[in-house]
Amino acid sequence: MLEIFIITPFPDFFKPILNQSMLKKSFERDSVKYNIINLFDFLPNRESRLDDYPFGGGEGMIMKLEPIFKAYESLDSKNSRVIFPTPDGKMFNQNIANELSKEKKLVFICGHYKGIDQRVRNEIVTDEISIGDYVLSNGELPALIMIDSIMRLVPGVLNDYKSAETDSFSSDLLDGPHYTRPREYCGLKVPDVLLSGNHKEIENWFLKERINKTKKNRMDLYKKYKSKNRGEENE
Ligand code: ADE
Repeated sequence: MLEIFIITPFPDFFKPILNQSMLKKSFERDSVKYNIINLFDFLPNRESRLDDYPFGGGEGMIMKLEPIFKAYESLDSKNSRVIFPTPDGKMFNQNIANELSKEKKLVFICGHYKGIDQRVRNEIVTDEISIGDYVLSNGELPALIMIDSIMRLVPGVLNDYKSAETDSFSSDLLDGPHYTRPREYCGLKVPDVLLSGNHKEIENWFLKERINKTKKNRMDLYKKYKSKNRGEENE
């Protein structure tokens, strides 16, 4: 069981999404527990604000540290990894998702405005993570993206755990094409090999497709794959 705590000024971001599809199944199957912590509950009074002007000047508002410290201290999550989604963090990938899926507890702190007081990052945050080289208006969407990719790796969430093993990025190859019924639609046919029943041939075909797609879309991954599989190339 993985317990996830999400500290956010906008809890409503999460409710509809956590209530759908695999994310919903992950808590129905008792594999992941989600706790959403509303930062506004940690303001000293109704007139207080979550943000303030930056010391030293500059554009944009900064999230204040007291509500975040108080929200964090209210959690039963000492020594847990604390993730701050930010475009200036290290790049998220499948290896990080795998590593985080093995934790017992994870805390996400969702930022807004121009940023958060650096003391939160220095004192509480253990992992500053970006989901890509572009800037979003909030930390909720990147937190949800990371949570989705982490929770599906927690044992008990996926019916077919093996399917996670052939995902793109689980090896250095991208995933290959998939087909289902009908065998033919308006002249569009499923490749014959998939209907042949010959498992070895199907496996070879799939590997070849994965290699070709990786070469076409991600030369960086293909080079990595090639250097690890020298001599065994099946092309
Ligand atoms: N917050 C804003 N943009 C982001 C990004 N690209 N990754 C993670 N957090 C973010």
